[in-house]
Amino acid sequence: MKKVLITGAAGFLGSHLCDKFLNEGFYVIGMDNFITGDKKNLKHLENHPHFEFIEHDVTKFVEIKGHLDYILHFASPASPIDYLKIPIQTLKVGSLGTHNLLGVAKAKNARILIASTSEVYGDPLVHPQSEDYYGNVNTIGPRGVYDEAKRFQESLTMAYHRFHGLETRIVRIFNTYGPRMRLNDGRVIPAFMGQALRGEDLTVFGDGLQTRSFCYVDDQVKGIYRLLMSNYVYPVNIGNPHEITIKSFAEEIIRLTGTKTKIVYKELPVNDPLQRQPDISLAKKLLHWEPKIGREEGMKKTFDFFKSLSKEELYKSEHKDFSRYINN
Ligand SMILES: NC(=O)c1ccc[n+]([C@@H]2O[C@H](COP(=O)([O-])OP(=O)(O)OC[C@H]3O[C@@H](n4cnc5c(N)ncnc54)[C@H](O)[C@@H]3O)[C@@H](O)[C@H]2O)c1
Repeated sequence: MKKVLITGAAGFLGSHLCDKFLNEGFYVIGMDNFITGDKKNLKHLENHPHFEFIEHDVTKFVEIKGHLDYILHFASPASPIDYLKIPIQTLKVGSLGTHNLLGVAKAKNARILIASTSEVYGDPLVHPQSEDYYGNVNTIGPRGVYDEAKRFQESLTMAYHRFHGLETRIVRIFNTYGPRMRLNDGRVIPAFMGQALRGEDLTVFGDGLQTRSFCYVDDQVKGIYRLLMSNYVYPVNIGNPHEITIKSFAEEIIRLTGTKTKIVYKELPVNDPLQRQPDISLAKKLLHWEPKIGREEGMKKTFDFFKSLSKEELYKSEHKDFSRYINN
């Protein structure tokens, strides 16, 4: 049986990747330290005969027994609220964590796919962003901890490919959404849906004319799978190019949820990108991939997930407690 190690398995994308690889007939080892993830995301796999879980911080030496065919390195805080609270862990998981996993891949002769991000383009000066754009990142801005960790991660991965001949893949993920996102992670979709469900006003930062594009998780996971199985070693954008302004999106959420609340405007955070849109020509050509799930369908599925949360979860105001990880 082909064996895959997925780091960040208890997170949003990691847990969906576990499902995908199990469905494709793989033996899956999930690894996570739960710093931003949740045990609940893997609960349904608890007794799966082809799934095992290792609780481990990937910034520490990673040991896997037996053979390994593939590694997907998805461990990393991913939302601004998380990485602004745990900036050093964010830098460490992108650098030391990636180094450890590249080491495992080399030792096992496994192919490794690294989760990069549209944040490597920073506040982009070209639109849409294609893979040959080098980006516009403020190294010392608050978001630099995430953006630069991911940029370093890409460099390290290419060095292992060039120097050691390792089989590497790099996916640059653009905003992805779907069930199992955390309600309080600060990303716009759970934020709006949570506010709508609690009957609160929807908060838009800035004038709301900044644009975003959102990719439904099933599309994202398919793209990642195809990239892993391809022969292409350079970064590939996977995301949905359909842009919408945050203001129009807030209006869409108001319609979808039927909430009677209104939009309120607050000051734009530092280095919040004004526009983000993937150029997915490469993924189309190389992987014959493009997103298939429209926003209406995807948002409905996501809203159904948030609606199913308990009242307690919906009203839990504090964000994830990172205190037990701070001295790691
Ligand atoms: N969701 C998106 O839209 C998006 C966009 C771009 C890139 N990405 C990338 O995809 C990956 C997953 O993102 P997500 O949205 O699922 O975030 P998430 O926070 O839901 O999942 C990340 C997981 O990694 C785990 N983790 C973090 N540090 C760890 C460590 N040191 N050791 C072990 N586990 C650790 C967390 O506990 C969590 O379960 C990240 O690498 C992120 O940068 C996501």
